[in-house]
Amino acid sequence: MKLIDGNAIAEQIRKEIAAEAASIIDKGLPAPHLAAILVGNDPASMTYVANKEKDCKACGFISSIYRLDEKTTEKSILELVDFLNNDHEVDGFIVQLPLPAHIRVNKVIENISPAKDVDGFHPVNLGRMMINIPSYLPATPYGIVELIRRYGIETEGQHCVVIGRSNIVGTPVSVLLSRNTNPGNCTVTLCHSRTQHLKEICLQADILIAAIGKKWFVTADMVKQDAVVIDVGMHRIESAESKSGFRLTGDVKFDEVSKKCSYITPVPGGVGPMTRIGLLTNTLKAAKKEIYT
Ligand code: GUN
Repeated sequence: MKLIDGNAIAEQIRKEIAAEAASIIDKGLPAPHLAAILVGNDPASMTYVANKEKDCKACGFISSIYRLDEKTTEKSILELVDFLNNDHEVDGFIVQLPLPAHIRVNKVIENISPAKDVDGFHPVNLGRMMINIPSYLPATPYGIVELIRRYGIETEGQHCVVIGRSNIVGTPVSVLLSRNTNPGNCTVTLCHSRTQHLKEICLQADILIAAIGKKWFVTADMVKQDAVVIDVGMHRIESAESKSGFRLTGDVKFDEVSKKCSYITPVPGGVGPMTRIGLLTNTLKAAKKEIYT
């Protein structure tokens, strides 16, 4: 079994991005600029946004954070989205999710200019991805495909089973791996909460992607010998050994599954670090006007 080291690959790509940003700045052009809208005080969202700021700094990017109160109206958020759509100093921006229940998430996403949608959540970017023309890819699917690419894992003709059909992970990664590209050309089965005979389907997977959001959902009896297992789960559990009193774990029962597979992503240190790189990659593309001129 080989461990897929997301931290090492992320560090390698971060260096590549920082070098490109430096060459942009050397030419006298403005540094890539990422903005984030954060609504409310959700601790996980605050951590994500703080990490994005740290990543920007590490790559020589400019970052701006717009913090709005939990009770902010949808109209105010849409006004800020409109402002950032028209702010020529900002290359791309994200609206951190989840949003408070009184805000229509899709309404907000649809109002982001596709050219600045570095999360890749806008229907135009998802549609461009579907028909295999350049687009901003959502960060987690990007991270998964990039790990597969950089580890040289063969995907052509392989059966890939994805568990979970979310808009930001399961559905787009299914599209990416079924496209006529490399990595790609998989036969993809997308499973979800209503799937019958899930275990039998998972047992057919050459590549199994767990993005169901349920701790330790994938057990060894669901995994074929020598399969590639990608764990997208992220769950906090109590741990006496850790200073913080908790540690992270995934959707896969790592100890037993890792004995059976050819490659596996650990949690933490697998897909997670790569999702942060996805946003930086898209912001760099936005600054270079690579997709929308
Ligand atoms: N919340 C959890 N993941 C993400 C992400 O990739 N983008 C945004 N905007 N919010 C998130």
